[in-house]
Amino acid sequence: MNSKGKILVTGGTGYIGSHTVVELLNENYEVAIVDNLSNSDEGVLDKIREITGVKPEFCQLDLCDKDDLQEFFAKNRDIDSVIHFAAYKAVGESTKKPLKYYRNNLVSTINLLECMIDHKVTNIVFSSSCTVYGQPDQLPVDETAPVKEPLSPYGNTKQTNERVIQYTIEAGNPIKGISLRYFNPIGAHPSAKIGEIPRGVPNNLVPYITQTAIGIRDELKVFGNDYNTPDGTPIRDYINVVDLAKAHVAAIARLIDNKNKTAYEYFNLGTGRGNTVLEVIHAFERATGKKLNYKIVGRRPGDVEQVYADTSYANKELGWKAEKTLEETLRSAWEFEKAYRDKN
Ligand code: UFG
Repeated sequence: MNSKGKILVTGGTGYIGSHTVVELLNENYEVAIVDNLSNSDEGVLDKIREITGVKPEFCQLDLCDKDDLQEFFAKNRDIDSVIHFAAYKAVGESTKKPLKYYRNNLVSTINLLECMIDHKVTNIVFSSSCTVYGQPDQLPVDETAPVKEPLSPYGNTKQTNERVIQYTIEAGNPIKGISLRYFNPIGAHPSAKIGEIPRGVPNNLVPYITQTAIGIRDELKVFGNDYNTPDGTPIRDYINVVDLAKAHVAAIARLIDNKNKTAYEYFNLGTGRGNTVLEVIHAFERATGKKLNYKIVGRRPGDVEQVYADTSYANKELGWKAEKTLEETLRSAWEFEKAYRDKN
């Protein structure tokens, strides 16, 4: 089968990046990954090969080093599109080390755009977040909702990178871009070969749940049950990571096929459903048959009460829809946790 194009995936050994690489390879795109391995492992490349039969090209490289990046583009003249995942993503850490986050997340995007222009690479898909909406005034939140005051330096880097890309495009540079605003990506590939591998204590709910269920953590702390929601715990829109990965393939196809309406676009990627933390816990227990040890504690600073997506624009324009159920997705996270702990 002929390749549909060669895609550079930055951060392609990471959680969402690796799942996206698999879906790109399944759809006959060629892939080159650059990653500095700051939060991932090269072993993921073999897992991708086991799933798809193809080991993607890989270059260990820090996007903040512009000379290295220029050299990479000079050597890889067949790249026509970029999916840009590489970034630091721990919300809490970003409040303690803002400059680390601003330097890494902004300099990498600026370098990438400059190199794309120099080497005539026209398409970029950017990994953004629903954090740009803060606590939205209306739910479900659609793409017409205003971008709010950032909730953290991390969130601010997502907003700012979106703007950097938008303004670079609007200034007339020969680039087309799509920002994808993820809600809460969870779960793992059905093969259980790739998934989320947090370093240290997990910050996010589902890795904390699976690590508690397998016995690495004593108990899950539920951060607050005094919110204005049906059971008092916050509501999020949890989207399966494979569904999310497929949206990236749709976005790349839209740019390559010139189906985009304007040179810069942005889409919400969620399921359209909101679930409370307690609903997620109980869905996990049903899906896996494991009883979870948890206790209610105080609120976590910076958490919004509820956010879930209106996905109709992405559904219509990208021809994409999240398909997997919450239980199915939580089961996949559990299967990955077990498979990973067996081997590590
Ligand atoms: N939660 C717990 N206990 C935990 C971890 C999380 O109760 O140990 C709760 C949180 O309080 C929140 C929900 O589970 O109510 C989801 O928390 P996550 O940390 O999994 O996800 P967030 O919604 O806080 O953050 C996610 C992404 C961020 C992104 C943000 C945008 O991780 O990158 O969505 O809203 F910025």
